[in-house]
Amino acid sequence: MKGVILSGGLGTRLYPVTIPVNKQLLPIYDKPMVYYPLSVLMLGGIVEILLISSAEYLPLYQKVLQDGQQWGIRIEYAVQSEPKGIAQALTIAENFIAGDAVCLILGDNFFYGHGLVDILTECTKLQQGAKIFAYRVAEPQHYGVVEFDGNQRVISIEEKPRHPKSNYAIPGIYFFDNCAVEIAKKIAPSNRGELEITDVLKYYLLHQNLSVEVLGRGFAWLDTGTHDTLLQAANFVQAMEVRQGLKIACIEEIAYRNGYINAEQLKNLAQRLGKSNYGKYLEDILHESHPY
Ligand code: G1P
Repeated sequence: MKGVILSGGLGTRLYPVTIPVNKQLLPIYDKPMVYYPLSVLMLGGIVEILLISSAEYLPLYQKVLQDGQQWGIRIEYAVQSEPKGIAQALTIAENFIAGDAVCLILGDNFFYGHGLVDILTECTKLQQGAKIFAYRVAEPQHYGVVEFDGNQRVISIEEKPRHPKSNYAIPGIYFFDNCAVEIAKKIAPSNRGELEITDVLKYYLLHQNLSVEVLGRGFAWLDTGTHDTLLQAANFVQAMEVRQGLKIACIEEIAYRNGYINAEQLKNLAQRLGKSNYGKYLEDILHESHPY
């Protein structure tokens, strides 16, 4: 399975456009936001990744993430010239996906929870249909909303409904078979002028090919779109990391534990990070007696 990260948005709810900052390169506590979705793909075992952003910001991503070789993965880049919706990422990624299945993840989505790795590993085996998650939120009207029956069969999908039919939002991670690109080409822009990912999901639903899995209360799916939610995510990461002495979304650590890089390579990465806490953390992994 291939992975696509859509890291488009400038973050207009965060900063006025006059501040030249790309939201997904802002840090959540101790690492850039884009590390979090990247780590989710890697935890699912995905090593071929395409990052999509605007022409203006793509060079910054290339500077930060390079070609991925340093982490034993492959990262390619593609431009989304105008923000025309999440589903557009699928058509932009057509050549990259090349008939494979794909996991599309949004650059500002944060996932954390015990058992996530097993769920992701299972999802990346998908060959047929589409798979989404459902996550209970207090204010579902801000998201794509999924309604399902007692057997977790999807009944309806709606994008930011005024009167949501359930409290379950659809997080920004989607698993698709190799039909997704063709489906994305067929859909028309919505009232807000975007190619909605929920319209792609509706197509799968209509053809009885959409499955949903609830991410229960033990999971954190956080949003980072406003000043408050960005700070909440940073506080969450800080609280977990300081308490456990284990990092969330540490790309270098995941690469090492997944066997994408060896101890020597991890050592080099650690040395490049100098005396920072992050560098020291990587050094410590090399000397740990009980791996986590
Ligand atoms: C987008 C999707 C929505 C999904 C959300 C997750 O919303 O359109 O279905 O629930 O991402 O973050 P947007 O980023 O356009 O507000």
